[in-house]
Amino acid sequence: MTEPFTLAHFSDVHLPPAGGVPWRYANAKRLLGYLNWQRKRRHVHVRQVADRLIADARKLRPDHIAITGDLVNLGLPSEYEAALEWLESVGPPDAVTVVPGNHDIYSNLRGDRGIGRWAAYMGGEEETLAFPFIRRVGPLALIGLNSAHETPPFVARGALGSQQIEIASGQLSALERDGIIRVVLIHHPPLASLAAPRRELTDAAHFVNLIERQGAEVILYGHNHRARVDWLPTLGKPVPLVAAGSASALIPHNQEAPASYNLLTFFRKATGGLRIRLVVRGMTEANGPIEKLSETFLEFDQPKI
Ligand SMILES: [Fe+2]
Ligand SMILES: [Fe+2]
Repeated sequence: MTEPFTLAHFSDVHLPPAGGVPWRYANAKRLLGYLNWQRKRRHVHVRQVADRLIADARKLRPDHIAITGDLVNLGLPSEYEAALEWLESVGPPDAVTVVPGNHDIYSNLRGDRGIGRWAAYMGGEEETLAFPFIRRVGPLALIGLNSAHETPPFVARGALGSQQIEIASGQLSALERDGIIRVVLIHHPPLASLAAPRRELTDAAHFVNLIERQGAEVILYGHNHRARVDWLPTLGKPVPLVAAGSASALIPHNQEAPASYNLLTFFRKATGGLRIRLVVRGMTEANGPIEKLSETFLEFDQPKI
């Protein structure tokens, strides 16, 4: 029996933009996004809340931290810089892994490096940054997908594209052969039914088909700002789809919950199977204590890995 391994899963930090939208980067998408931020979102997403959650997780000493996107809001260079500083406050690149969300790849960057600044947290060098990337941490392989692409105003859709899905297929198959616990990171919900059409992963059916064939031990995602677990039936073991809430939500907003994060502890069973303990920790009211909100065991009965 190997030692249990704990992965903390954060998402949708939505760090505040500093100031307005510089002229060079101004367009309808960013100006509408900025209005939405000023009118609504800035009252919801508060950096101090995210910092409190990170501090809470640190006390519980996770072996690694995964962040499934939406670190920023308007895709401005100043936001990428600020988010890099925030990431550095969370931990060094070998302790933290990030995949981008739709707010991180938001609109025309006019040649700016954008998320390239976070390359060390996405498995590599800026010059060779590519998705999907694989990061080995303890008994896990983190398979980092990019579901984000620039979209018009009022649209928060994502897509993986056939090339990324094809590469992920080979990776999942090889990792399974080597008996490695496969943890897929993606920002958008992997099932179309989990998001409104304007916010969905448009090639979710293609992605689901990949998972049905190749399997994965768990898929972690964000985007909906709500913790949730669903199961995807496959040709082998069913795959749990685990969503994290927003890490910075001070108050409930629309269908979204106050801030939370997930702690997943992976245990290899004596039979050779796998058991994951999923603990959701967060707040139930504005500025309330951070406490355990739920504890679930995701069981895998077939002794396959
Ligand atoms: Fe988000
Ligand atoms: Fe999102």
